[in-house]
Amino acid sequence: MALPPFTSQLIADVGISLGDEGKGRLVYEIAAELRESTKRRDAVALVLKVNGGANSGHTAGGLKLNLLPAGVIDSDVATLAIGAGVVADPRKFWWELEPLERRGYQVFERLLIDERTLLADVSHRLLDLAWEDYRSHVLGEPPRGSTGRGITPAYSDEVNQWPIYYDDFRGSRDNFVKKFRVRLTRASRIIKDICQVIPEHWDNFFDRLTLAETRANQAAIDAGIFQKEDFDFCQFRSKESFFLDNDKVIETYWRAGQRLLPRIGDVREAVLTALNRGQYVIGEFGQSYWLDKRHGFSPNVTASHTYTPEFFQSAGIPCQPVHTVGCCKAYDTKVGTHVFLTQMDDLHPLGKLLRELEYGTSTGRQRMVGWFDAVEKGDALRYGGYQDLVINKLDALTHRGAWQGELLVCTGYCARDGKMTAGVPRDDQVRKDLQPVFAKLPGWSEDIAGITSFARLPKNAQRYVAFMMKSILDVATRGGSSSVPVPNLRYIGTGPDPAQIIRDVPATRDLLKLAE
Ligand code: IMP
Repeated sequence: MALPPFTSQLIADVGISLGDEGKGRLVYEIAAELRESTKRRDAVALVLKVNGGANSGHTAGGLKLNLLPAGVIDSDVATLAIGAGVVADPRKFWWELEPLERRGYQVFERLLIDERTLLADVSHRLLDLAWEDYRSHVLGEPPRGSTGRGITPAYSDEVNQWPIYYDDFRGSRDNFVKKFRVRLTRASRIIKDICQVIPEHWDNFFDRLTLAETRANQAAIDAGIFQKEDFDFCQFRSKESFFLDNDKVIETYWRAGQRLLPRIGDVREAVLTALNRGQYVIGEFGQSYWLDKRHGFSPNVTASHTYTPEFFQSAGIPCQPVHTVGCCKAYDTKVGTHVFLTQMDDLHPLGKLLRELEYGTSTGRQRMVGWFDAVEKGDALRYGGYQDLVINKLDALTHRGAWQGELLVCTGYCARDGKMTAGVPRDDQVRKDLQPVFAKLPGWSEDIAGITSFARLPKNAQRYVAFMMKSILDVATRGGSSSVPVPNLRYIGTGPDPAQIIRDVPATRDLLKLAE
């Protein structure tokens, strides 16, 4: 039984937990569904990267992507757009794009970078490391857990009214040089005088960046697409500590930007044109509800807005109805320095298996793993609002080897005084002292990898899914005392490949009966 069609030509693909939910794979599932229902190959005109930058890591069809939208793998999507709300390093476009082109994906010709997309550069990456260094070494606080991709410093330049836009690549070189030189000098001064970084750490920053990018691009180096030297950040260090070889940085970025000139344009017009033609636009979000700079778990958040309202800001179009698909996994992961109330014990047999699957797409960091936290998802639904939900990686929970136990779902938090909280407390000091309240559910041992029909799932897997939905709704509605628009469960992921997905989940009112 098919679920109701999408309710708007704008479809937002957002995360409802802490990132890494598998939003990338949704893009081609949604696009395929739209093609089928409209019988139009060109149903999806644009996939728009809405927010963030190279901090987001999306895996789609076996490709690991940071800056490019996952629409890359779908050749029927005519335009891969980068919104004005994105902070993008032009070198990174090339590092991602060229290996994909060699593999036969057409990327460059489909790319459309908005004129107002913000230029992120090496100074932001150095500032990211310097501010983390300042937190640890000057303030004695834990690091924020940044991906080190320069995201917060890049947005700071926007907020502080020092933006350099992709449009600046179309202007005079002198103007670009002037703006960029001021930026680089300002960054050096902040790193030296405000962050009080010591010279050894400064030198070490360049080694860390070199190592990270060399590792991330090793396959392309091995294939001869790039030289190892292309990822050598030490080339930008000046002889004098805390200063950069400004001329070299500026020339490198100017060249990378000039090569992108044919792809810089007006995303606002492209989106409006698509809507006028009756086509769909999928907004692919980075990060997730709880990493939103305003409503997330500050300071362990990213520097952008990570859910639906940002669609309009980044595309530069009027607010209008949008169909939002909120994505999570059948268990939880966190990366960085987060409070993780449902974290599994290191020795837990399921935890061990899940950790083998969970490495950061952007950074290669090991993710922490834990039980499904319905409180976080319920509040994300209550305040974020989704027409549909998606649960990925259900197959990862199947019994195997030493893992034969019950599954836990966190349905509430208990505070020190023994009282249950209403949703997620916004005060992190309060939150970190809470105890999760778990429901226990039986697991299953039947292999469900690649199952495409809900009816073929073992009863215990069906019940687990139904219980997750019920728990999310219980939290979102505060136990039924207030109402929220009830989402359907549009897809359940049973494996990473496009064919490994269930698309015939019963409507929520029927699904919930299984949880009783
Ligand atoms: P930043 O965006 O690099 O500044 O990192 C801020 C916080 O967001 C850190 O806790 C990161 O681990 C987290 N973060 C940023 N991007 C992602 C992502 O794509 N997946 C999961 N966590 C992310």
